[in-house]
Amino acid sequence: MTRIAVIDDEETARKMTGRILKKAGYSVETFESGLPFLRKMEQDPFDVVFLDLKLPDMGGMEILSHIKFIHHWTQVIIVTGYGSIDNAVEATKEGAFHYLTKPCRSHDICLMAERAVEKIVLHQENDSLRSQVKHPDLLPGFIGSSKAMQAIFSTISKVAQVNCNVLLEAETGTGKQLTARAIHDLGPRKDAPFVYFNCGGFTEELICSELFGHEKGAFTGADSCKIGLLESASGGTVLLDEIGEMPMSMQVKLLHVLQERQVMRVGGTRPVNLHIRIIAATNKDLKQEIRNGTFREDLYYRLNVVTIRLPRLIKRLDDIPLLIQHFITKVNKAYSKKIQGVTPQALELLMLYDYPGNVRELENIIQHAAALTEGKKLTPEDLPSHLHKLHFQNSSTEELLPMDELEKRHISKVLSKTKYNIRAAGEILRIPRTTLWRRLKKYGISVKENSSEAEKK
Ligand SMILES: Nc1ncnc2c1ncn2[C@@H]1O[C@H](COP(=O)(O)OP(=O)(O)OP(=O)(O)O)[C@@H](O)[C@H]1O
Ligand SMILES: [Mg+2]
Repeated sequence: MTRIAVIDDEETARKMTGRILKKAGYSVETFESGLPFLRKMEQDPFDVVFLDLKLPDMGGMEILSHIKFIHHWTQVIIVTGYGSIDNAVEATKEGAFHYLTKPCRSHDICLMAERAVEKIVLHQENDSLRSQVKHPDLLPGFIGSSKAMQAIFSTISKVAQVNCNVLLEAETGTGKQLTARAIHDLGPRKDAPFVYFNCGGFTEELICSELFGHEKGAFTGADSCKIGLLESASGGTVLLDEIGEMPMSMQVKLLHVLQERQVMRVGGTRPVNLHIRIIAATNKDLKQEIRNGTFREDLYYRLNVVTIRLPRLIKRLDDIPLLIQHFITKVNKAYSKKIQGVTPQALELLMLYDYPGNVRELENIIQHAAALTEGKKLTPEDLPSHLHKLHFQNSSTEELLPMDELEKRHISKVLSKTKYNIRAAGEILRIPRTTLWRRLKKYGISVKENSSEAEKK
């Protein structure tokens, strides 16, 4: 059911509008002032808002920008007296749907609500079409055609449209910063600032002064007033990187800011309202940090409204050839080279490696190879030596094995991959199950106790 809020400090007007809309079949809540409405809106966004521009606690324009920030689908109808039509027109330029002049007729109120709902439906259809589109490249330079990355891209494009906190939990070099940037750039606030802050290695005082800002004379050395990063990101996104490194004492303060959506400069007396989206990133397991007593559980649940876990590079091998090509193009520009690609042998080595440093490590490897190569294609000789060792291990042991040893190892590998499911292993090896059992006996391979097939035997 469409949810409508009516905000008006004039009791008669508020009650009348509420009654008319309820009668028309909408679910309606009424508010005398802006703050209680915004608190409710943050928890559970309204679809349509009838907003009186003159309220006791906040300006109507400020409320309008809050609404648009919290939920850009929400349609706002400004309700105003004849004297302030200019302000109402101004509000429509700032994103309000339309305006009504007081006293409002019941017919106009209902018509306006209907139109607003039509607009929302249209918006939602467009957004859902957009999120169904495949994302071969979510943004130029953000590569990922593997299933795992396609799923991540789909989450990113949905999350970009709503203003919720996002937690990025993933290993180093997997693309957390790139993901945060994509969420910002694909959302309605893409032209507002994107501010980065690394929480690691700072004292509480320094983090406070950086994030919250300070007033002149707040502490020794504060000889001028400084606007904090949270305030300076107004309307945009703040990426709090390495959130797991934030000192406990600072975590309480951050929690308070996230709850109140207000910040107080160090030494200040007046809180400033914040209109920002927070994205936090970490390569730690925050649930483990909570168990260790080094991360606050309440802060964790504030931050992880949506959690995105980027997979390690070896979990998305399909992306490696595309990433290699992407980094070669990048490096060609940077080094003024004309490298065309990699030889099949070099690609084999690059596919075998396990990349503890994930995508960043692959990028470094390509940069290293590109700096050294003299040819048009990167060869195994251009790659770092630890990749050669891999090839050596791989080829020297397997190529020189006798046939039956090779068969034994291959059967063991397939069994382990199929979790000792004899039927599945037989299908992969393309041999009947009875033959497989005979080979197991011959090579003395024992099948795990919990295999259903083993039990049958
Ligand atoms: N899917 C991708 N497509 C293209 N480039 C990528 C991709 N993922 C990561 N990169 C590149 O790899 C490098 C590391 O990415 P990023 O800084 O986003 O990782 P991170 O997870 O924040 O790492 P860390 O935890 O070390 O800070 C960057 O140069 C980035 O451009
Ligand atoms: Mg990073």
